[in-house]
Amino acid sequence: MAKYKIAWLPGDGIGNDVMEAAKIVLDELKLDADYIPGDVGWEFWKKEGNPLPDRTIKILKETDCCLFGAITSKPKEEAEKEVSAELKEKGHVYSSPIVRLRQEFKLHTNLRPCKAYKGNPLNYRDDIDLVVFRENTEGLYSGVEFHPLPKEVMDSLLENHSKMKRFKEIPLEDIALSCRIFTRKACQSIVRQAFEYAKKFKRNSVTVVEKPNVIRETSGLMIREARKIAQEYPGIELWETNVDAMCMWLVKNPQNYSVLVSSNMFGDIISDLCAQLIGGLGFASSANIGDDYALFEPTHGSAPKYARQYKVNPMAMLLTVKLMLDYLGEKELAQRLENSIAQVIEEGKVRTYDLGGTASTLDVAREVAKKLS
Ligand code: IPM
Ligand code: MG
Repeated sequence: MAKYKIAWLPGDGIGNDVMEAAKIVLDELKLDADYIPGDVGWEFWKKEGNPLPDRTIKILKETDCCLFGAITSKPKEEAEKEVSAELKEKGHVYSSPIVRLRQEFKLHTNLRPCKAYKGNPLNYRDDIDLVVFRENTEGLYSGVEFHPLPKEVMDSLLENHSKMKRFKEIPLEDIALSCRIFTRKACQSIVRQAFEYAKKFKRNSVTVVEKPNVIRETSGLMIREARKIAQEYPGIELWETNVDAMCMWLVKNPQNYSVLVSSNMFGDIISDLCAQLIGGLGFASSANIGDDYALFEPTHGSAPKYARQYKVNPMAMLLTVKLMLDYLGEKELAQRLENSIAQVIEEGKVRTYDLGGTASTLDVAREVAKKLS
């Protein structure tokens, strides 16, 4: 029996292309693992009315971790239009499988490193080394949403909050409500992980990115917990920024920042911004980590128009494999993989179209694999 069992979920669009690239380097590294393929994505939504079938959840439960390609997520109406004719009107409701997986497997921490590798012509600057810690199960992604607003929710809000009064006369079908739910535990956990990371990798600041001047209770809770936790880490400064200003500062002086920590939605937004600073989504890796399980996926989407063309940059996926190896405790393999990736980027000989090259997704993976041996 192999040492590890890894769930293998290519998902939609280019997910398949980049997973093939991942397999090339994993084979070259001779990771002692069995890869168990699982169904997930748009195809299963259309055919089965469920983009994340129960059989896939079962596979994940029987594995050590999961490698995930990419997923297509569409808003409600568009999703409903595409479900197969015999399933229509059966009340299937589309929900993003990746968001569901994060919640069902309690993958509370989304780690998104954004490092400028030397020689990448798309780097905004060469001295950027950011890591985003994004809370991954709560906030605006909690899924507690209403439209129309139920009468009892309206009544209860009117009873409990004076600010609700100005919405009183508006018809319930003209009000939509999405709840931004933060728990103290999740705030503490994400901030603590950011500080632990800073301690381990000798980073001297952690920046908490929220908006407590306006969103007083949720962002406020995060900031208050961050201040308490920071006291346990002398030598690491806690910086507090508002998310809007942070976007400006990241474009102006990204080299001044190191570890960023934020809630789910703001973390989603700033991690795309950070990705663009280091060459775009083609270089942005991510790890969804919980207490008992972890799922690894590049930050990019499924780019359906490029599906199966082997055109897209696999570096985000290869860096994601590196995060998976770190998680499995395969530090030596992880380091070797990162070194090879860095070397291929620096040499600049084998490049995908986003970098002005003509190499395919798999050419890049083979070049990285070659450097491993
Ligand atoms: C991400 C993506 C997802 C998210 C989508 C696909 C649901 O943007 O992983 O950043 O919003 O979290
Ligand atoms: Mg995103």
